[in-house]
This record gives sequence, structure tokens and C-alpha cells, in this order.
Amino acid sequence: MKTAIQHISQALSTCSGVVVVTGAGVSAESRIPTFRDSMTGLWARFDPQTLATPEAFEADPETVTRWYDHRRLGCLAAEPNPGHLALAEIERRVTARGGSFTLLTQNVDGLHTRAGSSNVVELHGSVARWRCCATGREFEPGPEAMGEFPPASPFEAGAIARPCVVWFGEALPTEALDAAERALDTCDLFLSIGTSSVVWPAAGFVLAATARGAPTVEINPEPTDISQRVTWSVRAKSGEALPAILERMSFH
Ligand code: OAD
Repeated sequence: MKTAIQHISQALSTCSGVVVVTGAGVSAESRIPTFRDSMTGLWARFDPQTLATPEAFEADPETVTRWYDHRRLGCLAAEPNPGHLALAEIERRVTARGGSFTLLTQNVDGLHTRAGSSNVVELHGSVARWRCCATGREFEPGPEAMGEFPPASPFEAGAIARPCVVWFGEALPTEALDAAERALDTCDLFLSIGTSSVVWPAAGFVLAATARGAPTVEINPEPTDISQRVTWSVRAKSGEALPAILERMSFH
């Protein structure tokens, strides 16, 4: 009787179009808080509507930008964990044999790219990139804490800057959505890793993959709304499951 890990490894060794969606759970083992974990999540200590919205930024840009710079520095100090590293190696193996691999992440911490993943689509933007509110021009602040809040724009006197992350009520970057759609159109294996699957459109990607007849996978230590509808559900941490999947890929 093959285990889910063995099935997933075999599917990764033979399929042609892999699509992965990740959430904050993939970075939990890098000590970056998730959103909805009741005890340790970012939101255990505050209501997201008070900081992660354009209205909150309009009303109190100092508090919002101070909090995001705090998160930015936390992400810069974090290191990719075995789950990130295994995903990057899985991508290399799939593409080396001519397959396509698209990593759609809801995370803004940049750890997939730092781990070596190359085809990464940042659906919710990146906390490492900020932009001028007057001109829209983007920049990457240095490794030290910003000196003033809200930070002054480096491009326009008198203008302030904000993080290039998607806030509640804001549209996702069109180029990210287009990339996700293109990837799902040729998907023959779909993996949902470390996400509570409650925020759309990412939560709906599993439906698009299922509609194409692609086998679907969930890796999450807790059940979610999609756990019952995936082909293989792995009730484990991504930092444990992904290295185990990678290890078995070498047998195929
Ligand atoms: P959540 O905090 O909603 O969910 C994190 C998921 O990761 C949960 O289902 C946990 O069970 C799971 N998890 C925890 N530790 C894990 C581990 N070691 N390995 C694997 N899974 C683990 O975070 P997201 O699903 O990413 O959007 O939240 C989606 C979006 O909601 C975020 O991108 C953010 C928020 O609104 C924006 O800010 C626009």
C-alpha cells in the first residue's frame, strides 16, 4: 500500500505541469508567525483590519509603516527552512526533466527565492519592496530599521512610502494573477502547502486544478476546508513532509 508521500513523489517524477500554492505555514519553521494561529499568529495580538488595510494606512500611516518595517526586519533575519529548500530542489528536478514548475506564494517574506526557488509568483507582494505613494516607483530599503515613520519617499519630496504588499480590499497584482492562470491552465499536479485556504483567489486554485482532472495534494498539520477534496492529504509540517517527498523522488 503506497503512502501519500510515495504517491506524491511518483507524481512529481512523472508529471509535466506542477503548480504549488504556499501560505504562511511554510515559513512557520523559519520562526515567522502565521496569520491565524490563535496563540502565536500575527493576529493573535491585533485585529488585521486595524493595520493591513488602505484605510488603516490613510488614518495612521506611522503605525502601519512601523509595523510593516518590523515584519520586514523579521523576514530579513529569518532563514529558509528545510521545506523551502526541498521545494527549490523539487523545482530543479521537475524542470531538469522538461517539466514546468510554478510556485504561487501568498507569503511576502521572500524566503522561497532566498531558498533557490526560481519561478516564484508573489501573489500578495513582498514586504522587502516599498513604493512611493506619489509616483508608484519601487525601492528596496536597506537591512537596518527605517529611520522615520511613515518613511519619506526617496523619489518625491514631501511624499511618503508604503510596503508593496496587498492589503485587504486591494486587488492582487495583475501580472501575478495572469501567471497563476497560465500555470493552472497546464497543471497536471497541484500542491497546496501551509495555507488555511480561506483567502481567495489562492483558496480557489485547487478547484481549477481539480476541474482539469489534476491530482491535488495538501500538506498541513491541521485540516482545512480543502482537506476533504484533495487526492492526497499529508497531515504534517512542510519542513518534514517536503524533504521526505524529495528523498523518494530519487527512487523514480
Ligand atoms: P494562515 O495563518 O491563515 O494559515 C497558515 C496555515 O499553515 C494553517 O492552516 C496552519 O495549520 C498551517 N501551518 C502551520 N504550521 C505549519 C507548518 N510547519 N507546515 C505546514 N503548514 C503549517 O496563513 P495563510 O493561509 O498564508 O493575506 O493566509 C493567507 C492570507 O491571509 C495571507 O497571505 C494574508 C492573510 O490575509 C494578505 O495579507 C493579503
